Amino acid sequence: MKEKRIILTGAAGGIASRLAQKLDADGARLCITDINGDALQTLQGSLSANNVQTVVADIGKAEDRTRIVQETLKRFGGIDILINAAGINPFGVYANQDDTTIQKTFEINVLGPMFLTRAVLPTMLAQGSGQIVNIGSTFGSIGFAWFAAYSASKFALRGFSQALRRELADTGITVSYIAPRAVRTAINSPAVYAMAEAVKMTMDEPDTVAQQIIDTIRKQDKECYLGFPESLFVRINAVFPGIVDRATRKQNRKAQKYAEQVNAHTSG
Ligand SMILES: NC(=O)c1ccc[n+]([C@@H]2O[C@H](COP(=O)([O-])OP(=O)(O)OC[C@H]3O[C@@H](n4cnc5c(N)ncnc54)[C@H](OP(=O)(O)O)[C@@H]3O)[C@@H](O)[C@H]2O)c1
Repeated sequence: MKEKRIILTGAAGGIASRLAQKLDADGARLCITDINGDALQTLQGSLSANNVQTVVADIGKAEDRTRIVQETLKRFGGIDILINAAGINPFGVYANQDDTTIQKTFEINVLGPMFLTRAVLPTMLAQGSGQIVNIGSTFGSIGFAWFAAYSASKFALRGFSQALRRELADTGITVSYIAPRAVRTAINSPAVYAMAEAVKMTMDEPDTVAQQIIDTIRKQDKECYLGFPESLFVRINAVFPGIVDRATRKQNRKAQKYAEQVNAHTSG
């Protein structure tokens, strides 16, 4: 990763902040961006000042996305890798979720990455090289009860990644879709943690996941599903969804009471 010019969204978050520290240790040049200015500042303090550009930005806003790209180009003169890691996860009963929550989920998890990708493509096409890395989820291949909006957004991100990868096949630009299973970060509300414990859902540590993401970026893998047996269930669900319907029914019933506890107007 030495000297690679990387834009990292959601950089102040649990997974991406570890990514930033590892990439920084590798000698990458980073534009770290996040909506959370205070947390971004704290992260910046742990990174080498010479190689880091900090941009407080909301990836849901066009003017902020433009600023991310402009400031990266001004500082580093090019963009080698875009890592779309910002995201939100509104856990809860779908019937109780309001339009704003559902819309916001798509704005941040799908449209933000799509628009930011489009914004960096002219630079990457002119360079004849680049790498788009979209952080998905197991839930982007297996639709999970009580995560309907989140699952739908990650399915969309996966479809976008696959189509764009094929479209860019002859350009020198690669597209990777990396799907972690559950990870111990603040994207998961206390209700999700309580549910995960009740149904014995395995949760990975963000540090481990960040390292797996870097390994996948290095190999330029097209798609990567982290964790076993989740990676196997992704394959089974693609071919025999009925098996997964039956296998998850009991777990979904157990999880229901935690989803019902979530207030209709919060994001999880
Ligand atoms: N943790 C998991 O269980 C898990 C599993 C599979 C996939 N993932 C994916 O991994 C990625 C990273 O998640 P994480 O677990 O590290 O979550 P996280 O700790 O909540 O980090 C996400 C970061 O994105 C920021 N963000 C939210 N809305 C934004 C916006 N409009 N513009 C810019 N930044 C925004 C968040 O800021 P605030 O804190 O202020 O909201 C936060 O700093 C996400 O795409 C997530 O879907 C996570």
